[in-house]
Amino acid sequence: MRIVPLSAAPQHRETIVDWQWRAFGGADSRDFFASVVDSSLRGADLPLTFVALDGDRAVGTVGLWRCDLISRQDLFPWLAALFVDERYRGQGLSEQLQQTVIDCCRQRGDRQLYLYSACADYYERFGWTYMGDALDYPATAVRLYYKSLE
Ligand SMILES: CC(C)(COP(=O)(O)OP(=O)(O)OC[C@H]1O[C@@H](n2cnc3c(N)ncnc32)[C@H](O)[C@@H]1OP(=O)(O)O)[C@@H](O)C(=O)NCCC(=O)NCCS
Repeated sequence: MRIVPLSAAPQHRETIVDWQWRAFGGADSRDFFASVVDSSLRGADLPLTFVALDGDRAVGTVGLWRCDLISRQDLFPWLAALFVDERYRGQGLSEQLQQTVIDCCRQRGDRQLYLYSACADYYERFGWTYMGDALDYPATAVRLYYKSLE
């Protein structure tokens, strides 16, 4: 198993777009997620998309985004769009994907990292600190988390 930037394995673009769309989107939002993924393939510092590979097979993904919650643009950067293929769940891959983003942020010199989730009692187990609730557009309450990288 290895985790690489999607720019090193762009043949998996369609798979990652489909995962993000089905896990986090609504019926008509595939183009939205395609746009997000494509924006990580243009060579800019951010966003970044990572893909976990078992041989040549894509088995998970995670993103490092400038902003994942437009109501909290004071916070930067964000771990986003964490997804593990159902056949590869329960083996700690989610933690490896999170660690890849954390390592990347430390190399960049970021002092903290944020994420939001609808789930309670998941990110706590990986050392994330719950900051309180926030609003996903337009009115969905979500849980905000941060991790100090210092
Ligand atoms: C959440 C997800 C990334 C976990 O990936 P994974 O590689 O299986 O994670 P790990 O092996 O590190 O951890 C698995 C643990 O997380 C728990 N877990 C999985 N989904 C969970 C959820 N939505 N809420 C709370 N706990 C969850 C599992 O029960 C398991 O617990 P256990 O170790 O006590 O058995 C994966 O299930 C996924 O991609 N889900 C679809 C996207 C999603 O629901 N994202 C929101 C996450 S809050």
